[in-house]
Amino acid sequence: VDRVGEVLYEAFKTGALKHGYAPRMQSAQEGKAWAWAMLHRGPNEILVAEEGNRVVGLICLNPRGSHGGVGPLAVDPRSEGKGLASELTQAIIKKAESLQSIRCILEAFNPVSFALFTTLDFVAAASTVDLFLDGGTKEDLDLCGSVTESMPGDLDTVHAYDIPRSKFDRRPDLAYYAKRGKILVYRKQSQIRGYLACLPGPESVQLGPLVAEGNDEAESLFRYALTLYKQRSSRTCVLARNGAILKALMSLRFKVYCLGIMVVRGSWRPGEYVEAFGRFPEGT
Ligand SMILES: CC(C)(COP(=O)(O)OP(=O)(O)OC[C@H]1O[C@@H](n2cnc3c(N)ncnc32)[C@H](O)[C@@H]1OP(=O)(O)O)[C@@H](O)C(=O)NCCC(=O)NCCS
Repeated sequence: VDRVGEVLYEAFKTGALKHGYAPRMQSAQEGKAWAWAMLHRGPNEILVAEEGNRVVGLICLNPRGSHGGVGPLAVDPRSEGKGLASELTQAIIKKAESLQSIRCILEAFNPVSFALFTTLDFVAAASTVDLFLDGGTKEDLDLCGSVTESMPGDLDTVHAYDIPRSKFDRRPDLAYYAKRGKILVYRKQSQIRGYLACLPGPESVQLGPLVAEGNDEAESLFRYALTLYKQRSSRTCVLARNGAILKALMSLRFKVYCLGIMVVRGSWRPGEYVEAFGRFPEGT
């Protein structure tokens, strides 16, 4: 776990700095915590590449019912350019044979990962935007009365709302978010019209996954989350096509970290709903 964590930290840091972006992770400790959580939470599968007896690369498969996520994929910067990422990705594609599709969100500033996934028959299905809010919100935000924190008995209802829309079976993830964080639910006349999972981490609160009928519901869910985690940094990833929700997030003082490309191998495509994505434990 420690070594996988170091590779994650070094690979993402080097990739970001090479393209003039600030690293997402501030220390190897964050990479180690991520590695530990990937191994212990959710039905994830991790493959590693070794040179000698040393782990120099890894990839994670995150099956969620008939579909799944791939990632993170990372190779130690000292072992780059030898085809290791390509071998790891081909091996995970074999593992994912029973799934209808696998998807991965790539940082759009990284031409190598895009080239690699394209070669292996992934296609660009959507543009995404990674946003962060450092230090949380200082203001008192207007809240809408339709958002509440979910109760333990709501998990089945949230799951039943989510699965036909996202197509991902997130049952274990929802239980994990409810235990370690919060699931916020938007209801109108007792019908669910959206939900947002909030997962506090050591550095920031992950806001996502979110599925909502429209921008108003999504914005109300985000506002509630910012009020709940006031003065804590947070991160989210939304579809770039949802201009109204992006504008709403930026007016709440979120900053754009980077653009992303969601690549898919297989049948899944984004639906008509507003969606935000949590990178853990679904993959990146
Ligand atoms: C992206 C990353 C995984 C690549 O690892 P790697 O082991 O160096 O990659 P590989 O050597 O297997 O493959 C790179 C391929 O892209 C090709 N490539 C590189 N730059 C390219 C470009 N600009 N255009 C087209 N192809 C390009 C290479 O020729 C190679 O193809 P080949 O194996 O057919 O020769 C690694 O740099 C990394 O860990 N980056 C940070 C984390 C990250 O971005 N992960 C991906 C998303 S989760």
